[in-house]
Amino acid sequence: MPLEPPLMEVRNLRVYYPVRKGMFGGVAYVKAVDGVSLVLNRGDIFTLVGESGCGKTTLGKTIVGLVKPTSGEILYKGKNILKLSKREYLEYRRNVQIIHQDPFSSLNPTKTVFQTLSFPLKRWGIARSRRDLIEKVSELLSLVGLKPPEDFLFKYPHQLSGGQRQRVVVARAISVNPELIMADEPITMIDVSLRIGILDLLLDLQKRFNTAYLFITHDFGAARYFAAKGGGLIAVMYLGKIVEVGPAEDVIHDPLHPYTKVLMSAVPVPDPELSRKKKLLKLKSLDIPSPMNPPPGCRFNTRCPFSKPKCEREEPPLIEVRKKHWAACWLYAS
Ligand SMILES: Nc1ncnc2c1ncn2[C@@H]1O[C@H](COP(=O)(O)OP(=O)(O)O)[C@@H](O)[C@H]1O
Ligand SMILES: [Mg+2]
Repeated sequence: MPLEPPLMEVRNLRVYYPVRKGMFGGVAYVKAVDGVSLVLNRGDIFTLVGESGCGKTTLGKTIVGLVKPTSGEILYKGKNILKLSKREYLEYRRNVQIIHQDPFSSLNPTKTVFQTLSFPLKRWGIARSRRDLIEKVSELLSLVGLKPPEDFLFKYPHQLSGGQRQRVVVARAISVNPELIMADEPITMIDVSLRIGILDLLLDLQKRFNTAYLFITHDFGAARYFAAKGGGLIAVMYLGKIVEVGPAEDVIHDPLHPYTKVLMSAVPVPDPELSRKKKLLKLKSLDIPSPMNPPPGCRFNTRCPFSKPKCEREEPPLIEVRKKHWAACWLYAS
């Protein structure tokens, strides 16, 4: 029997944004994503973490079809998303849902919760009559912890807290039983006290429906929480490239790439014994180089505490250092 193709596959993706250089100058390119490959299977949790500006949102948006690749391919169930038939494209749009960072701007302020959540249900023929819609929307509200649903059905976004608004956004994303949810910084704009609640909700829904997740965050603490609890893979991105990817437990407890080591050692550890034992690594520089002009060789060499002359000249390949645990660093390649 032929193997089922992965849910999503990204092959050597590049996304360059053209920008004008000076008043008379030509065009330069921001290399937001610069050669990324990854595979997402059904039910996978894939956590993508990296500092602001490293290309996470661009990568996520390209996977869900909102940004055109400069080169490379995005395959949905083995088919290039730019070459889907109309029917396949509709299936893809329904099955790949997005949760954005800002729950306020992603909800229409003039629509009630009921109207917002009814829309996808009607659009995809999941419920039609008002009775069915009320029942289904109420069920969704309960699923995302907005209980009792009657208290929320006819509220407008401004009558809800940030955390409640994000729960409505989550309800909208799961309403159509998607195969993949791309959650781009879903807790960044939410009160610190409510963040864990939203992450737990996402993980709970993942277990219940076996939805695949692409969870994007710049916050290593959040990445660690999500990946440690949910499992799956963590990928670390730096200046448009994935520099390390592997099983969550492995990447958290035994990171390979110096960049990951630095970032993981900067996340506060609640256990004082553990934090004393951890050697704190320091970056050589805090400046992130421009993605318009990434450093030659390994892009991390200008900040890496272990940088050698070779690192300034040659780009290290992403190699499998341990089982399913990959890193792009000359410490592990030769
Ligand atoms: N539409 C755009 N036009 C030009 N540059 C962009 C655009 N969107 C993002 N960028 C640039 O691309 C790089 C990656 O951005 P982004 O994908 O938003 O990263 P992240 O989500 O990791 O913060 C940044 O340097 C950003 O300024
Ligand atoms: Mg972003």
